[in-house]
Amino acid sequence: MATPKLSIDHFLSLNDAQCHERIVAAKKALGERLVILGHHYQREEVFKHADYTGDSLKLSRQAAQSGAEYIVFCGVHFMAEVADILSAPEQIAILPDLAAGCSMADMANLEKVEQAWRELSTIQAADEYITPITYINSAADLKAFCGSHGGIVCTSSNAQRVLEWAFSQRKKVLFFPDQHLGRNTGVRMGIPLEQIVVWDFDKPYGGLTQEEIKAAKIILWDGFCSVHQQFHAEHIDKYRATYPQGKVISHPECPYEVCQKSDEIGSTELIIKTVKASPPCTRWLIGTEVNLVNRLARESEAEGKFVHYMAPVVCMCSTMYRIDPAHLLWILENLLEDNIVNQIKVLPDIAAQARLALERMLEVSL
Ligand code: 13P
Ligand code: SF4
Repeated sequence: MATPKLSIDHFLSLNDAQCHERIVAAKKALGERLVILGHHYQREEVFKHADYTGDSLKLSRQAAQSGAEYIVFCGVHFMAEVADILSAPEQIAILPDLAAGCSMADMANLEKVEQAWRELSTIQAADEYITPITYINSAADLKAFCGSHGGIVCTSSNAQRVLEWAFSQRKKVLFFPDQHLGRNTGVRMGIPLEQIVVWDFDKPYGGLTQEEIKAAKIILWDGFCSVHQQFHAEHIDKYRATYPQGKVISHPECPYEVCQKSDEIGSTELIIKTVKASPPCTRWLIGTEVNLVNRLARESEAEGKFVHYMAPVVCMCSTMYRIDPAHLLWILENLLEDNIVNQIKVLPDIAAQARLALERMLEVSL
């Protein structure tokens, strides 16, 4: 029988070094029953305990393949939901702090998306003409909406392949919640900006005219990431004026003007791979979250490369940062007592539809 749950209050006063030793011991005791997945934006004190690290696509694959009884996801809520959806029913997905959400994911909800779908259907039969695509940064019920309407999920590393698949199915795309990923990918595929419109979810018909909707190839949800929104084209101009030979790489959640001025665009995993594969002495300006950039800067220094952070102010993902050593330890020591805390469980009918959309994505991005 499980012992009473250990309260988080006993853990919050521990310092990082105390947590470190106990996390290592708990991991050892749990052995193969446990896998810890860590997103690249995690702080160092947590990231170092991850068995697997990666971007959202790599970690969702890892969750689907893992045989561990407990999948502890050091990331944000939608990632733990995906781990639950893609893992076997008996496996348990856990998010160390339930307040680790994603402000961009919260910008779209089922009610607003269904309203948009209804309104679009009065102009053209949406289920015939439009493929819904949700960025993986979204709640499970939006993935389920895509699953049940012939749609699909994408991540920042497979958005182009997913869009190509979507256009092979239907003429148009409704893309939510991140407008920047949708626009940056569409433009790279050669779709003119005039055929990419933004759906203002607070206005009837997204604030668009019938003609605008009919002429559009991509209808973008008016959502964005507050972290990546803080990078601006002027930051790149200033860097290039100082380092004309320097390279620039940005995450596709950055605004259009930033991506246009960048040499490379890529997911967190691709950013790391690109910088690591570059020759010694290469200088990089990077437009993504600060924990990743700082880690890469430290690692690159040893290889004689120079890594700069794009914004003059620190743009940290405050929800990723909620996962701290104290919460991780709290989860693990409870597991040692057979107590499961902070399990993320998606309702079975939502999970089934969401899995459809996720599996379409995994197939397309092989
Ligand atoms: P990646 O898919 O690159 O890991 O991005 C996830 C994310 O939340 C970026 O803000
Ligand atoms: Fe969400 Fe932005 Fe944080 Fe990524 S960086 S988890 S998109 S708020």
